[in-house]
Amino acid sequence: MLQVIILAAGKGTRMKSKSAKVLHTLCNKPMIEYVIEESLKLTNSVDVVLNHQFEKVKEIVEKYPVNIIKQDLENYPGTGGAVKEVPIKGDKVFILNGDMPLIEADELKKFLDIDADIVMSVMKLNNPDGYGRVVIENGNVKKIVEQKDATEDELKIPYVNAGVYLFKKEVLEKYLPKLSNQNAQNEYYLTDIIEMAVNDSLKVAAIEVNEENFKGVNSKLDLAKAEEIMCKRIKENWMKNGVIMHLPDTIFIDAYSSFEGECEIGSGCVIKKSVIIESEIRPLSVIEEAVIKNSGIGPMARIRPKSELVDTHIGNFVEVKASKLKGVKAGHLSYLGDSEIDEGTNVGAGTITCNYDGKNKYKTKIGKNVFIGSDSQLIAPVTIEDDVMIAAGSTVNKDIKKGSLAISRAPLKIVKDFYYKFFGRNN
Ligand code: UD1
Ligand code: CA
Repeated sequence: MLQVIILAAGKGTRMKSKSAKVLHTLCNKPMIEYVIEESLKLTNSVDVVLNHQFEKVKEIVEKYPVNIIKQDLENYPGTGGAVKEVPIKGDKVFILNGDMPLIEADELKKFLDIDADIVMSVMKLNNPDGYGRVVIENGNVKKIVEQKDATEDELKIPYVNAGVYLFKKEVLEKYLPKLSNQNAQNEYYLTDIIEMAVNDSLKVAAIEVNEENFKGVNSKLDLAKAEEIMCKRIKENWMKNGVIMHLPDTIFIDAYSSFEGECEIGSGCVIKKSVIIESEIRPLSVIEEAVIKNSGIGPMARIRPKSELVDTHIGNFVEVKASKLKGVKAGHLSYLGDSEIDEGTNVGAGTITCNYDGKNKYKTKIGKNVFIGSDSQLIAPVTIEDDVMIAAGSTVNKDIKKGSLAISRAPLKIVKDFYYKFFGRNN
């Protein structure tokens, strides 16, 4: 049986953040979740080691069928200390880091094909700064030296420990109790096992892995780079599935959005936690937690959570929140919040649903084939039945019955030659 242990107890000091490192998100999803999901593709025996911000991280991790173990950071700090408390159940044990969100199960499967006591991962980097260096002699790995313990010559080694290992059970059982904390950081280094195993003539194999998948996230700069890679993967997947994207590098699609049928996304759009079905999202629109079907949105529209739009046209500078629109046209400059609007209704430019009275939020219900003139305010709670006309500039604070006209307008007064009396005549 294969066991995966994910290390995620560290402080992540280099992130300079109040939030635990592994809770930082790529495309809206916490890093640790990606690592867990890939691990669960390999085995159903997954242990996650936590400590820093234990409760908060646990809340996310416990959504998955994994074991959670709390590291004794005070007595056993370090990556070796993290593994110390985990019951070793598998014949082979993968150690992964919670801060490697780009890792993919397919790549890890390659480790399983190699017959060795330890399979470790190595990357050759132009800038190895921050990583443990892998000391290689005559093509064989000798040991891993952490940056803080390295000599000047060792610091020049371009081969670094990527931090993923596959151990035979016996190896961990034998060497974990032998780790010491006599080093620059007074931590128990998992990496010390390599040297001990080499000295005992065990077989240590090294796989050269690609930086893109194995790069650890240690700073907010790393985080941004990793997010770019993850977002690219997500977009490429949807494009392969038939979604058209214009200048995809400018589009943000999160890990929780999905597309059905032929969809088209304009440049500069942001789409989060949404389902888009056979629709066109035009440039610079922001869509969050919405379901959009057979509709055209934007450019420059904002669709906020709990919105459902079907057969609808939304134009520029229209904001929709928690509203159900079916067969509606709202072409320009509107706020439609907490509303339900039915087929054939035209929402004029500048229409506002006044859903908030400073204390509570209320609903606006609009029936079929309603014509709302420009610059109208609908003061919720209010119901407008089918076939109603609302004159431009009206303030609607009463329910309106089917077939009626609603008009609230101060009479227009025209004062002849007032302009010239005020400014005078120049010519
Ligand atoms: C570690 C390796 C280093 C390697 C690098 C690759 C050691 C001693 N060093 O260094 O050789 O190049 O990863 O990314 O292993 N963690 C715990 N408990 C702890 C300390 C860390 O669970 O007490 C977890 C962290 O949450 C993190 C992972 O282990 O997910 C790695 O820890 P980190 O501090 O980032 O190790 P590095 O210094 O990067
Ligand atoms: Ca790291």
